[in-house]
Amino acid sequence: MTKRVPLIAGNWKMFHGGRTGCDLAIDIMRGLRSADLPAGTADVVMAPPFTALAAVAATVEEARAGLKLSVEISAQNFHAKAEGAFTGEVSAPMLLDAGCKWVIIGHSERRQLFGETDAGVAEKTKAALDAGLRPIVCVGETLEEREGGKTLEVVERQVGAFAKLLLADVGVGAIAYEPVWAIGTGRVAGPEQAQEVHAAIRSQLAGISQELASGTRLLYGGSVKPDNAAGLLACEDVDGALVGGASLKAESFLGILRAL
Ligand code: PGA
Repeated sequence: MTKRVPLIAGNWKMFHGGRTGCDLAIDIMRGLRSADLPAGTADVVMAPPFTALAAVAATVEEARAGLKLSVEISAQNFHAKAEGAFTGEVSAPMLLDAGCKWVIIGHSERRQLFGETDAGVAEKTKAALDAGLRPIVCVGETLEEREGGKTLEVVERQVGAFAKLLLADVGVGAIAYEPVWAIGTGRVAGPEQAQEVHAAIRSQLAGISQELASGTRLLYGGSVKPDNAAGLLACEDVDGALVGGASLKAESFLGILRAL
């Protein structure tokens, strides 16, 4: 089986869009340096708002020398077209130009608050891969869907919308399972709940290609904190975390990395 290096991604959401974003990145880089984690412990990704992307990318670049871990920048969203008359939108080539390597696609806040659909998520996944931007595609059920016993059905539908596209370059993309009821609520899925869904996603991928299943990192997201990260990250099919609230402070983000 391909060795999957854990991926720990911090989704800053609509916080730290300026100077404080650079300060946070500096603190994280400093913490990573002093933790001196061996190569292969984890790949680290930070996803600031658009306004801070280029500055945070430059900050990380300056602080990178000697660090054994990969640290890269992600956007939180983008427009699938490369350019055009789309006021207020940002494209994949623009993100690459700003120093981004990754983009989060289909976060539940985008799906719920901005009407993103499975078809739109698939379109963006294709556009990101075509442009050379690594997608972290998010899936997850609502509380109502979980209580209605529909979790696996919903997640399978969401994954099915884009999974085959990841065959274009296996291992480049990642999937984040984020139960909507656990995001920002302090209500975390237990390791068994996370593992159950992750295993289902893995077997869905195996139905497409064994290589896709073993080469795709499956992240868990939803109230991941330093004190619950170890249990989640120890699950066989959990290959990392997409962290919201706890990524906004260097100490808690680094605490999650130390839990590895
Ligand atoms: P949370 O957010 O860690 O604050 O729950 C996770 C996410 O939305 O990606």
